[in-house]
Amino acid sequence: MPVYQATVSAPVNIACIKYWGKRDTKLILPTNSSLSVTLDQDHLRSTTTSRADASFKQDQLWLNGKVDEIKEGGRLATCISEMKRLRREFEEKNPNEPKVSRVLVPAIMHAHLLQISSFHVHISSVNNFPTAAGLASSAAGFAALVSSLAALYNLPATPSELSLISRQGSGSACRSLFGGFVAWQMGEKADGSDSYAVEVAPREHWPDIHALICVVSDTKKGTSSTSGMQRTVETSPLLQHRIKHVVPERMKAISKAILEKDFDTFARITMQDSNQFHAVALDTDPPIFYMNDVSRSIIALITEYNRASVESGGKIKAAYTYDAGPNAVIYAPKENIKEIVELIYSYFPQTEPFKDPFGLFGAAGPKGKVVD
Ligand code: DP6
Repeated sequence: MPVYQATVSAPVNIACIKYWGKRDTKLILPTNSSLSVTLDQDHLRSTTTSRADASFKQDQLWLNGKVDEIKEGGRLATCISEMKRLRREFEEKNPNEPKVSRVLVPAIMHAHLLQISSFHVHISSVNNFPTAAGLASSAAGFAALVSSLAALYNLPATPSELSLISRQGSGSACRSLFGGFVAWQMGEKADGSDSYAVEVAPREHWPDIHALICVVSDTKKGTSSTSGMQRTVETSPLLQHRIKHVVPERMKAISKAILEKDFDTFARITMQDSNQFHAVALDTDPPIFYMNDVSRSIIALITEYNRASVESGGKIKAAYTYDAGPNAVIYAPKENIKEIVELIYSYFPQTEPFKDPFGLFGAAGPKGKVVD
């Protein structure tokens, strides 16, 4: 019997303009547009293998090796059934697809290929980083799931088209369909057909920007993004101001900064938007705290580092941003990364050696303490 299987990886993305709030919780339609940077595949990613087989009795998912329930009507089930719908439409439109010769391929196999949308699927997804610790694991996870089903089904869909489906798994997942700098346009339509991700600029446009991830804690977060943001929508007056009067201007300004490779503006907006997102979380009733004392100390350190540079006639050198957890992501031009790592090492004792993909420090690593 032929095996129908595909494996695809998708990277994490970290937002500079945060998505926080839904106007439709089922379709996952946001209350504001957002913009993120997709990290390189090599570091934080989800890898998903999907397999379709006529003998499977039900759809099934393994997350990091453990069976995960696919709840009826839930987000996973929605993504899987939407991908099957796309495949069914593709089969109806292309009765002779896939284009394999009938002479070479036995009739039975051809029939199977045509009916693949009616098979159940088994899906295995693995993250190479802590799940649900505010490191956007759901974003990479749903993007990889949708991409692997698209590959399995041999669909000619564009990343924007696939983003319409991964969005229904987890809002931020729609942005992980692209590399580089990505905007999620909130759209206006009630059916969500205009709420998808678009590329602002590819990675190669501005390869000098690097992300330094400071894992302050890798335990699962207290308030999930999903429940936290709905509480914010229901109770925060500040959110209403943000979505109407702040985000639209910021989206334009940061897109321009990216296209012009203007790090100073990019960094200022990124930090302001992270701060406002956490202010909105605090404005929620009851309040939500995602950052801890270490997170706030890193903000103080980067603020001081930038102040010293600007006061001596230089520019902003780094931008911090925090998602729904205490971990910092620091964006900076590559030339500043070594200095920033040294700074962090001198103030915060580390439990693990620095992962140094660019060999900035050589075998000895950065100076500073590594404690047990
Ligand atoms: C703070 O995409 O995880 O990371 O759509 O409910 O799954 P759901 O939420 P999710 O929220 C991400 C929130 C954020 C900001 C962002 O990534 O834009």
